[in-house]
Amino acid sequence: MNSTDLPEWHALAQRRRVLEPICIADLFDDDPQRAQRFSFEAASLTVDLSRNRIDSGTLRALVELAKAAGVPKQRDDLLAGAMVNTTEARPAWHTALRSPADRLMDPTWALRLSAERERFLDFAERLRASMVTGTVGLPLDTVVCLGIGGSDLGPRLVTEALGPVGRPHVRFAANLDPVDLDTALAGANPHTTLVLAISKSFSTLETLENLRAGLRWFKQQAPELDPAQHLAAVTSQPERATALGIDPSRVFTFPDWVGGRYSLWSACGLGIAVAHGRQAFSDLLEGAAALDAHFAQAPLESNLPVLLGMLGVWYVNFWGVQTRAVVPYAQRLARLPAYLQQLEMESLGKRVDRAGDPLSIDTAPVVWGEVGSNAQHSVFQFLHQGTGWVPLDIVLIADHEASHEPRLRLLNQFALAQADALAWGDTVLGDELQPSHRAAPGNRPSTLIRLAQLDARSIGALLALYEHRTFVQSVVWNINAFDQWGVEIGKQLLARRTESSAR
Ligand code: F6P
Repeated sequence: MNSTDLPEWHALAQRRRVLEPICIADLFDDDPQRAQRFSFEAASLTVDLSRNRIDSGTLRALVELAKAAGVPKQRDDLLAGAMVNTTEARPAWHTALRSPADRLMDPTWALRLSAERERFLDFAERLRASMVTGTVGLPLDTVVCLGIGGSDLGPRLVTEALGPVGRPHVRFAANLDPVDLDTALAGANPHTTLVLAISKSFSTLETLENLRAGLRWFKQQAPELDPAQHLAAVTSQPERATALGIDPSRVFTFPDWVGGRYSLWSACGLGIAVAHGRQAFSDLLEGAAALDAHFAQAPLESNLPVLLGMLGVWYVNFWGVQTRAVVPYAQRLARLPAYLQQLEMESLGKRVDRAGDPLSIDTAPVVWGEVGSNAQHSVFQFLHQGTGWVPLDIVLIADHEASHEPRLRLLNQFALAQADALAWGDTVLGDELQPSHRAAPGNRPSTLIRLAQLDARSIGALLALYEHRTFVQSVVWNINAFDQWGVEIGKQLLARRTESSAR
């Protein structure tokens, strides 16, 4: 089924023509209740869509397209663990990792998942309690997480988002460039350091090379040290980790039906649990599970992932916008754009449909962003006065508005000022006509996503929201959001290069 064949698709093309001459300011003038009408809530998140190029009729038409494209059925399949990842013949059941056991239809998996969760959370708590020691009996109080892509971006984002880390220190290294690992090992004492290799496939070159470099570091720094006491791993291929000498009791696993970029909820999140504790990790899962429940049960008309997903389709396919920006107004969320780049572009960067036929429509936009308010002094010139316009997600923390810290109150005020300036442009400044070089045309869309507070529950809900938003778009575009075959060619050519240079 191609969505472009649906009458709902053509109805939206018609709506696009109608809305072309109407600007966001007019939409507010025509509807004094607009701010309330386009504000939606779920799981400690509030989403304000009012500064978008949509009216009520368009939102209804977008929801009708979601229904006609099969979003409800495919959502239910995803959440039930059906085989939605067709090219790898697997479910994409990352929601099972955070689902309360009694809500999981499959008691066998409920037991297996909770047992493994208990195992890695127990290890995290023993590290936090200085009960895990190294060769000379000293507690391991520096944990260096080696991983890349989904085995790094999510765990690192959440670890940083939850605030300063005490002991054990948790550090991350991903890049093949030795500078990354050297920085993570800088000042570390080999006798109190644990290297945690995180890799779903346990075959990723960067992570294995960094693991070997970590072993060399141990050898150089403390030749007497027994590396096996300073290593642990997280993977879907435990036999590969034990083959490298990692003690099976220190190898934590997750099912291969969890995609890398959807894996922070599994043992891949061990770094989060070591840094912030069992309760914080449980809260993270709870927040995400609350959003899953909303996605499963809320009517599509007020279903946050569906509304945001369909807004993405609206801008890409009906306005021809090829990028979208994300600006989190919280320093601790500085890594959110990088995390979303993998989540959305690796999931949606596809050119063939699920039957393998070339698509006639655009899919993934380029996702980019920077932390607010820094972004105001780099990319907002473009956002306000560039020739093209870019849909923008502004992520902000609601309780900053009542903070005793004036800079946090100002931060939120700045975010709202920017959203208004993008929507209304100069008209918000009054009637005085600006000289053209100063003129800001406005009519530039932004979505406000408010987290009640910057805590584990809200972060869990936010990331689950973006995961499901991504899935909704994949359904309408009829693409498989859970494979990433396109990454292989670069790896294959590297193998050829290294083979031929070895000869
Ligand atoms: O090359 C892309 C990719 O496979 C991502 O999908 C994945 O998150 C990353 O590499 C790391 O893979 P692994 O966890 O298997 O090391």
